[in-house]
Amino acid sequence: MSTQKTILIAGGTGLIGRALVKRLKELGHHVRVLSRKADLEKNIFGWNPNDKRIDLAALENVEVLINLVGEGIADKRWSNRRKQALIDSRVDTTHFLASQLDSMPHLSHYITASGINCYGYENYDKKHKETDPFGDDFLSQVVQKWESAADKFAVRVKVAKIRTSVVLAKEGGAVPAIAKTINNYVGAPLGSGKQWMPWISMEDMVEVYVHAIEKELDGAYNALAGSVTNKEFTKALAKTLHKPLWLPNVPSFVMYLLLGEMSSVVLDGLQADNSKLLDSGFAFKHTRLEETLSEIYH
Ligand SMILES: NC(=O)c1ccc[n+]([C@@H]2O[C@H](COP(=O)([O-])OP(=O)(O)OC[C@H]3O[C@@H](n4cnc5c(N)ncnc54)[C@H](OP(=O)(O)O)[C@@H]3O)[C@@H](O)[C@H]2O)c1
Repeated sequence: MSTQKTILIAGGTGLIGRALVKRLKELGHHVRVLSRKADLEKNIFGWNPNDKRIDLAALENVEVLINLVGEGIADKRWSNRRKQALIDSRVDTTHFLASQLDSMPHLSHYITASGINCYGYENYDKKHKETDPFGDDFLSQVVQKWESAADKFAVRVKVAKIRTSVVLAKEGGAVPAIAKTINNYVGAPLGSGKQWMPWISMEDMVEVYVHAIEKELDGAYNALAGSVTNKEFTKALAKTLHKPLWLPNVPSFVMYLLLGEMSSVVLDGLQADNSKLLDSGFAFKHTRLEETLSEIYH
């Protein structure tokens, strides 16, 4: 049993946050959430980083601050305005939290969500390590700015950056989105289907955060159990759902027409190396894709 800590989770109402709050409470921690929709009965405190408002009661005695905030990367087409919102909801929010450091004298650890898609897409076969440089594409640049904002905390506390891969969960994210097309008999691999998708199960994702707290991780960590190609993933999910895949791959230009620049999220891919996380003592529960999907659905 770990030592009980007072933990504040910004963005703790989201997909990862809800599962993480539940787990940290099970472990006996005092957990609070920051959300734009307060619900004090559930320990959800109000804030609005846009207009720099925060309920200061949320910050009292906080020892660990976890930041999961960010507008959904694949929620809307990437107009210039949307791209700015994707950056601002991560970078400005982090700056705002850092500006509250003086109200958190007991803080010893800042843990931020980050993205695995930060290395660019040129080195197809390379398993990127945390020491590799950032890429030049939009998502890599988002991550670079996001992590650099997180470093504002490093003047006083340890800063862990969890470079998150695609989180596999039934409740939201990529799995139900792809499952919907398969269940409607219009599922198909996208583009060449050869693009890599690094993935992690929700259960392991939550345990990565628990591990980061317990081991007081510092620095960037690639959080992925493995990588699978888009075609392999689509086939594995169809098999899990007992549905046929009969359509040919959706050509890249069609995806571009449908999604614009955001098609990069599904058409580009990369592999990454998780040995730094493993060497820190983390053990994955789920490393086999088909078993993981089967556990999610059955
Ligand atoms: N899920 C994945 O597969 C995945 C993969 C890679 C990286 N990540 C990153 O990990 C983090 C957590 O992921 P998630 O899937 O849990 O995200 P999520 O379900 O979209 O939740 C994000 C939370 O951020 C808050 N938020 C969104 N826009 C905001 C804004 N403009 N200002 C203030 N708060 C805002 C929302 O809280 P309120 O509405 O309550 O304020 C929301 O609950 C995100 O930063 C995401 O980019 C996730």
